[in-house]
Amino acid sequence: MTTATGTRTTVQGAVGTAHTRVEGRDKVTGAARYAGEIPFADLAHGWLVLSTVARGRIRSVETAPVLAMPGVLTVLHHGNAPRLETDFIGLLGTPPDPTCTLFQNDRVAHLGWPVALVVAETSEQAREAAEALVVHYEQEPHDTEFSADRTDAYALEGHMPAVVEKGDLEAELAASAVALDQQYTTPEEHHSMMEPHAATALWDGGRLEVVDSNQGASWVVGELAKLFSLDPSAVRVRSEHVGGGFGSKGVRVHQVGAVMAATVLHRPVRVVLTRRQMFSLTGYRSPTAQRIRLGADADGRLRALEHLSLNQTSSVHEFVESCAAPSRVMYDADAHRTAHRIVRLDVPTPTFMRAPGEAPGSFALESALDELAEKCGLDPIELRRRNEPERGPASGLPFSGRNLEACFREGARRFGWADRDPRPGVRREGRWLLGTGMAAASFPSGAGPSTAIVTAEADGTFTVRIAAADIGTGARTALVLIAADALATTPDKVRVRIGDSDFGPAMIAGGSMGTRSWAWAVTAAAGELRERLALGTDIPPEGITVRSDTTEAVGALARKERHSFGAQFAEVAVDVTTGEVRVRRMLGIFAAGKIVNPLTARNQLVGGMIWGISMALHEEAVRDRASGGLYGADLAGYHVATHADVPPLIEADWVDDPDPDDPVGIKGVGEVGIVGAAAAVANAVWHATGVRHRHLPIRPDRVLQAAAGEPHA
Ligand code: MOS
Repeated sequence: MTTATGTRTTVQGAVGTAHTRVEGRDKVTGAARYAGEIPFADLAHGWLVLSTVARGRIRSVETAPVLAMPGVLTVLHHGNAPRLETDFIGLLGTPPDPTCTLFQNDRVAHLGWPVALVVAETSEQAREAAEALVVHYEQEPHDTEFSADRTDAYALEGHMPAVVEKGDLEAELAASAVALDQQYTTPEEHHSMMEPHAATALWDGGRLEVVDSNQGASWVVGELAKLFSLDPSAVRVRSEHVGGGFGSKGVRVHQVGAVMAATVLHRPVRVVLTRRQMFSLTGYRSPTAQRIRLGADADGRLRALEHLSLNQTSSVHEFVESCAAPSRVMYDADAHRTAHRIVRLDVPTPTFMRAPGEAPGSFALESALDELAEKCGLDPIELRRRNEPERGPASGLPFSGRNLEACFREGARRFGWADRDPRPGVRREGRWLLGTGMAAASFPSGAGPSTAIVTAEADGTFTVRIAAADIGTGARTALVLIAADALATTPDKVRVRIGDSDFGPAMIAGGSMGTRSWAWAVTAAAGELRERLALGTDIPPEGITVRSDTTEAVGALARKERHSFGAQFAEVAVDVTTGEVRVRRMLGIFAAGKIVNPLTARNQLVGGMIWGISMALHEEAVRDRASGGLYGADLAGYHVATHADVPPLIEADWVDDPDPDDPVGIKGVGEVGIVGAAAAVANAVWHATGVRHRHLPIRPDRVLQAAAGEPHA
């Protein structure tokens, strides 16, 4: 036995120093197991069957021939599947998406709707049988046409107000010396995380166990318990390693199907989605149509700011892509009007995708600001400076911190912005036209209640247990550093166990709030443990354990505008004879709170910026009017930026910006990296060519059409 206090010397803080991922070696050697590859005895495999019509009813499912196929154990469908409880409000404040409450009726809401689950001894047998299953439909006409002028669009009041207004917009527009009225569109985009959704479910002594890939084990427990009418204590969800989530990995068809089949068959069942299935079953970012009207005095000071956004949703679930959210916090104006509307179509349900709202919304807003700067003859940074708000422009609330100006200053200095010739289309290098652009970024910062368990072990080390999710962000490693500092020890003395709902409820890896929320709980438990150890007590063999719960502390946070901010800079080269756009360099400077681990934070921010390049130039899921499905619903047809598209010179850095209301000073870096990135690229394309691209992605054919003076396609 040792005492934890006896040998302590002064240790240098771990938070703020670069640390490679503690599970990095396991991941690169293949020792880390993901949900779809953890071995189980007696495992059966489920394969989903998706609808081949975009709207209608299931008339019949021809199960008999398939049940006679080798290895097939059962075929679940609306005629025989267990009934679910669907009348509840989930963690995200909405009823469950009927896409995920499998087989409860005969309705088909979109092409690729789940209609059956074939379970067999092997994955291959299940797939073979699923592909052979004949389903008869009563087909109905479908409508998948998203456009800005849908007359059936409507506002959905929810946790975020649909319309926010201040002042007399029309009067201020009329009184403006300079005005702008433009439409911007962004296409349907998909999360495309590396690891597909996968879950294994089994009953173990009256307890439901689910091994899964998700963004919050206690979140999945809560929803599964409600769906299957179980006490939450009777459900355990584990999710140790997750190969990306980006908002798509909550409760989805794979867990529900696996639990249904395990319940019926009394044995472990695994359901893994294919990449193609993910395109219709796991959510996506809705296409958006946005209209922005700006009115300003000749000196660029905004009188009026209007941002209207429309997105599509499915016929069975309402989801709002809150594109106007950034306009509610970014710029002051005498009159403000921001509004969201949705239109129901026969399409899959969209969902949260990295910087939901802010990513497409900032493309429109920050493009419009660039256009206004051009009209006013002002530098785009100077225009933004002139419209910096004292308080939240729409809310009137004070900011908890707003270091956007510091981001502009540092970014401009490092990017070499001061030397920029504002004239568009005048720099040529061989076949390339060159340009630079910038945009501002913001994303809300917050914290959710969490519990953490910290144990001082008899050997002088510490174990932290928290139901956190590391979806590739480096959260596990960040918590090691947090715990080391809070325990006044070194990172090598701390082991962090995550991804197990038995560790107690914890915030999800979402909304850029994961690391901050978990760090808060770990800090609280570690602080109390230190106090206990300071008494000099001997540590018994089972260790000394302290548990925290931050529900009260987080709930006491005063109402303020809490955001991370950033400034994005891009340089592009455009070949107007081939339509090719290359990003040559990119710089993002962020005010995103205390940075816990510079190595993984940089990784996270640069990842967001790369996604911004991808959004600006590549990503677009195109829906076929006739079938109602996507063309090329796979990673061959759906283009994401790859190595060859990303310049070596892509850098993220930050200014000092600790959050005064957080125990560690954290704000969160999960999402702000993508915000504004696509606008910076588009603004640079304008600077290179003199042509505005208001419709993403900036495809070669669009560049060519613009060069030929044709209207946008
Ligand atoms: Mo994120 S879109 O909150 O996972």
